[in-house]
Amino acid sequence: MIEIKNVGISFGGLRALDDVSFSVGKNEVVGLIGPNGAGKTTMMNIICGLYQPSDGSIHFEGTQITGMTSDKICKLGVSRTYQIPQPFYAMTALASVVTSVLNGKKRTNMSLGDAGLEASYYLEFVGLFSKRDELASNLNLYELRMLELARALATTPKLLLLDEAMAGLNPVESERALEMIWSAQEQFGITILWIEHVMKIIMKAAQRIVVLQYGKKIAEGPPEQIVKDPHIIEAYLGGKH
Ligand SMILES: Nc1ncnc2c1ncn2[C@@H]1O[C@H](COP(=O)(O)OP(=O)(O)OP(=O)(O)O)[C@@H](O)[C@H]1O
Ligand SMILES: [Mg+2]
Repeated sequence: MIEIKNVGISFGGLRALDDVSFSVGKNEVVGLIGPNGAGKTTMMNIICGLYQPSDGSIHFEGTQITGMTSDKICKLGVSRTYQIPQPFYAMTALASVVTSVLNGKKRTNMSLGDAGLEASYYLEFVGLFSKRDELASNLNLYELRMLELARALATTPKLLLLDEAMAGLNPVESERALEMIWSAQEQFGITILWIEHVMKIIMKAAQRIVVLQYGKKIAEGPPEQIVKDPHIIEAYLGGKH
């Protein structure tokens, strides 16, 4: 579904990503892990068109998307959530999701009423329908993460990029969020590229894991192989653990 080839980017003197290649197949859940500052979010920012890479290319369903604007990439079927939720704080939950419904469409001749109905469906799906008239500023972190998910799903993505969907959630909330993501995958047939620090979750959720460190890909494989890899244990814990 998406093929990332030899991608590189620098910020000043810092090589945030260097010669990174991997792909995600249709219906796969791929985990993207690595220590803080490894370049995970930067990769996501490049995929969705916020940053332009200095090297390499990205193809989504055979179309080169490098150089395209974010809204065009979104309309092709790529959506994301943010590590720190980015709601429109002054809008109600429903209005936020309506914005996504309208932005995800190639044609925007949908009436506001119809967009509201569609948005309500996504809010209901993530369990936030009763909060539809709340301002995002009144939602707790779990609810904000669910609103992020509803907004991403409302653009009807084929590929969903999740940036630390579990960060800050307690173990019970994390399990609930994982169930939600699984049912989204089942219901909407989406493919997922998932950045996650919570190992217990990503090892359970992903069929394949890509590991970044200092902007380079240092490993790729099934979770059971990754957890046993001494290089990865060292990258995470440092020294000889
Ligand atoms: N816009 C930017 N300008 C300058 N430096 C940046 C920018 N974005 C990212 N970086 C730097 O690039 C490196 C990779 O950052 P990135 O946010 O991709 O890491 P990450 O793997 O997502 O880390 P974390 O797990 O902490 O979220 C870091 O050193 C970061 O400071
Ligand atoms: Mg990050």
